[in-house]
Amino acid sequence: MLPKGNFPEKVFLNGEIVSAEDAKISVFDRGFLFGDGIYEVMVQLENGIFYKKAHLDRLQDNLNKIGIPYDVKNIDDALEPLLKASGLTEKSCLIYMQVTRGTAPRKHSYPKDVPASVMMYALPYALPHINPKHMKAILAPDFRWHRCDIKSISLLGNIMANEAAMNDLADEAALVRDGMISEGSHTNIFFVKNGTVITHPADNHILNGITRMIVLELCQNLDISVIERPIGEDEIEHMDEAFFTGTTTQIASIAILGEHQFYENDNIGKTTKRLQETFAKLRTMDTSQSKL
Ligand code: PDD
Repeated sequence: MLPKGNFPEKVFLNGEIVSAEDAKISVFDRGFLFGDGIYEVMVQLENGIFYKKAHLDRLQDNLNKIGIPYDVKNIDDALEPLLKASGLTEKSCLIYMQVTRGTAPRKHSYPKDVPASVMMYALPYALPHINPKHMKAILAPDFRWHRCDIKSISLLGNIMANEAAMNDLADEAALVRDGMISEGSHTNIFFVKNGTVITHPADNHILNGITRMIVLELCQNLDISVIERPIGEDEIEHMDEAFFTGTTTQIASIAILGEHQFYENDNIGKTTKRLQETFAKLRTMDTSQSKL
């Protein structure tokens, strides 16, 4: 029996759609033993799955990076039947998927000829037109590994930072590595100074978020200049605006970061606001096949 909570009704598991109660995997699955797998989160909005192709391409890239032989086309093909079985065809929902290296005797090195374990589910989920939040974020040490570009299901560093934020009654944690801000616990972070947008480069210390890439594209379209460089913890107070981005966060304005308050009440910075409004317009289009 599943405990109480917001579980999906149906789960896609290794080619079959089963009830959530019956979705079972072996305790010898490498996802369970080692956190050896990759995940993705996407949302279906009014006009289809938001940047579906970009998410699936990133999933494929990540699987290739860690040598899990799996073709995400199988996931793409399973999406429609899963949404149908879940009663979520053309409805707003969140889609979670993960692929692990499969079930094998516990041994660190990669097993040969073991099929990947594939799991996916969809849950009703509504996203506001524009994220109305005035985020409060703490600063937390980024003690994660040096391959944060991999969307690994091992998220201990991220969840510990997020828990610290919750304990401080904050919305998010901005992670600090060697004095530089890398990203949020489940978001990317951007700053604005004199109308220029500044964000950490897409290297091995951050996940290159799909929303991050969309925002960079919007900046280009709107003639907003961009610098990709990390911002130091000591630079925060000199920045004019800051915001988080992510699939479930969209673009969320940051009111307070660590000790610094960017604004009070509803006074969201003008560049953040402009990007939020432009981002919201993307929902009126079918972006499922858009490239970034
Ligand atoms: N998180 N950085 C980290 C560490 C993340 O976990 C995420 C996404 C992002 C933003 O990526 P995208 O824009 O592609 O969603 C950045 C997902 C949503 C999650 O773990 O639930």
